[in-house]
Amino acid sequence: MQPANRIQRLPQQLFAHLVQAVEDKRRQGIDVINLGQGNPDLPTPAHIVNALQEAAVNPRYHRYISFRGLSTLKEAVAQWYWERYAVDLDPSSEVAILIGSKIGLEEVSLAFVNPGDAVLAPDPGYPDYLSGIRLAGGDLHPWPLVAARQYLPPLDDWPATTRLAFINYPNNPTGRLAPAAFFDQLIQRALSTHVILAHDLAYGDIAFDGRRAISLLSRPGGKDVGIEFTTLSKSYNMAGWRIGFAAGHRDIIRYLELLQDHLHCSQWGAIQEAAIAALTGPQDSVRLLCQTYEARRNTFITAAAQHGWNIPPSEGAIFIWCPVPPHRTSMEWAHLFLEKAQVMVAPGSAFGSHGEGYVRVALTEPSERLHEAAGRLATLLRDDTPE
Ligand SMILES: Cc1ncc(COP(=O)(O)O)c(C=O)c1O
Repeated sequence: MQPANRIQRLPQQLFAHLVQAVEDKRRQGIDVINLGQGNPDLPTPAHIVNALQEAAVNPRYHRYISFRGLSTLKEAVAQWYWERYAVDLDPSSEVAILIGSKIGLEEVSLAFVNPGDAVLAPDPGYPDYLSGIRLAGGDLHPWPLVAARQYLPPLDDWPATTRLAFINYPNNPTGRLAPAAFFDQLIQRALSTHVILAHDLAYGDIAFDGRRAISLLSRPGGKDVGIEFTTLSKSYNMAGWRIGFAAGHRDIIRYLELLQDHLHCSQWGAIQEAAIAALTGPQDSVRLLCQTYEARRNTFITAAAQHGWNIPPSEGAIFIWCPVPPHRTSMEWAHLFLEKAQVMVAPGSAFGSHGEGYVRVALTEPSERLHEAAGRLATLLRDDTPE
């Protein structure tokens, strides 16, 4: 059966066969250390689970709820933005509830990109920006993130047909943050060229060594030019719950919500109640989580360095961007790591051509396992010499 052209434009999941290989090994009883996927391993804090349990028995949430979600959750988001970033938002017109931020990051392309429009997206970058761009018929313009430019995209490389630009700091996969001056220059350039900025702040709460992530909306002009996507998946270990939000320019929010009215009903009300508990409740668990990832990062890079593999420490997010020697591709390294060390990592090339030369390690296993994995990988790297 022939699918529609838009389906044929969808990119392939580049490391699907690695995920399959992990499953096959596990079925054979082999203990694979999975550092390949950014799937948080720790449980959701108890007060959030309790809020879901209470709301689950409320018949109000057994019925359809408003298409655009709970106004009380939008108010909680506005309060959260004020407390975290001193950003003032009107909850009714500047906030949209999302069934996870992944869907919103795709919907923004559907809402604003016409066939033939150019869309900038980081390379290497989170693959789902591309999914939305392709569904909308837009042309991806990869925006290189390289070590020599501190993993910031070049602002002079911008086609005249550009409609939308994605950025993401703390960054997946490189683990880098962007300084305020970068946001300010980007905002000025976007304002003068009428380009919409979409900032993916998925890892906004996870910044290391005393750093703080920056909200696009907190910079002068940010709210006039863009939208920001936040998820509860990472900060509150709620990846399976599917809840996030977008905030920013009211016209962007308006068209995003209009599109959503036609695509789906809002997330289950009980989950939205739990999200309110997460955003307005105690934030100690968020601080503790950030410390946990920082300690795991330190464990991995210290163990790797002891075996001669020197990896620059990441500044945030839940990843380490690890350089590998050039005599094999990043995909070959990922296969070797899995076959010979029983450790799964994500090949850098799966995130774009500028990811070649790296593998991404996710900090989603306890420190002991990360220590063990770093030793195994570094030894393999040392012993694998060019032919
Ligand atoms: C950079 C980035 N953005 C967005 C998401 C999507 O998060 P969710 O759909 O769970 O809200 C992820 C998930 O891994 C991510 O890494």
